[in-house]
Amino acid sequence: MSALGRGFGASKVILLGEHAVVHGQPALAAALDVGVRVTATPGGGPRLAVSAWDVTAKPGDDGTDLERAMARLFECAGERAQGATIEVEVQVPGRAGMGSSAALSVAVIRALAELDGEALTADEVERRAGLAEEVFHGRASGIDAAVATRGGALWFRRGEPPTSIQFDPMSIVVAQVEPRVPTREMVAKVGAAHDANPGVVQPLFERIGGLVEGGRDALQRGELEALGEVMNENHLLLAELGVSTPGLDGACAAAMKAGALGAKLTGAGGGGCMIALAPGDEEAVTAALVERSIWVKAARLGGG
Ligand code: PMV
Repeated sequence: MSALGRGFGASKVILLGEHAVVHGQPALAAALDVGVRVTATPGGGPRLAVSAWDVTAKPGDDGTDLERAMARLFECAGERAQGATIEVEVQVPGRAGMGSSAALSVAVIRALAELDGEALTADEVERRAGLAEEVFHGRASGIDAAVATRGGALWFRRGEPPTSIQFDPMSIVVAQVEPRVPTREMVAKVGAAHDANPGVVQPLFERIGGLVEGGRDALQRGELEALGEVMNENHLLLAELGVSTPGLDGACAAAMKAGALGAKLTGAGGGGCMIALAPGDEEAVTAALVERSIWVKAARLGGG
């Protein structure tokens, strides 16, 4: 048992395949080396303080989403962790599509387990994080919890367990360009477009699925120019699906002008985040995005 429990959970980006994945195509997601760090100390709680969000939470079954989610994690933890006080350091924006809630859950699970001297398997960390994700997101796909727990890059297809993709970790520039529209709304919008016009929208999904396969192979081989091209094509197809915005398009164009090999929106779109692959040119690309973004950072892809 330790006097302090510490834990980290990785945030994530979707590299390729968002939206089409909801309709049966594959997608590729990867962890970042930034996420959520927590420190748990025995006593004074259960209590959780997130100074970046100006939030203090008292885990319990009839509180806010955060409080109910954290109550589920405390229920799984051992005796010594029950009254713990948790300090949270959030390194990524919340509600931006970067998986900050799963990162928080994984960090808390690990810190409480350390306090209890409990060695958890990755499967168990992921299972517990899934319980909290149900509170945050309803029926979540589980990808955020899987990436936050395992790090690296994951290939996933609906209804199948995600598989790990081997690659050399690299840097990626991530920018939150605009406030985001809830994922649920964007998924409904694309679903309605598919229902109204399957002859146009289904081929777009299939083209995205084809790109994801090519992108995975390029990532595994370290062929970054090819990966960048695939990202650009994926962005254009997402724009055709109607989920990009002038702000996201402008940020992608600015990143390309500043030397990126590829750039695309990431996640549900309608605002939110974009990513730019710019090995060696991160500084120039970050500088080009600063004025257009709420938050921007060159992070390490695959960290976690
Ligand atoms: O908002 P995010 O980053 O969690 O991504 C949503 C990805 C979608 O494909 C649009 C939805 C989904 O459930 O896969």
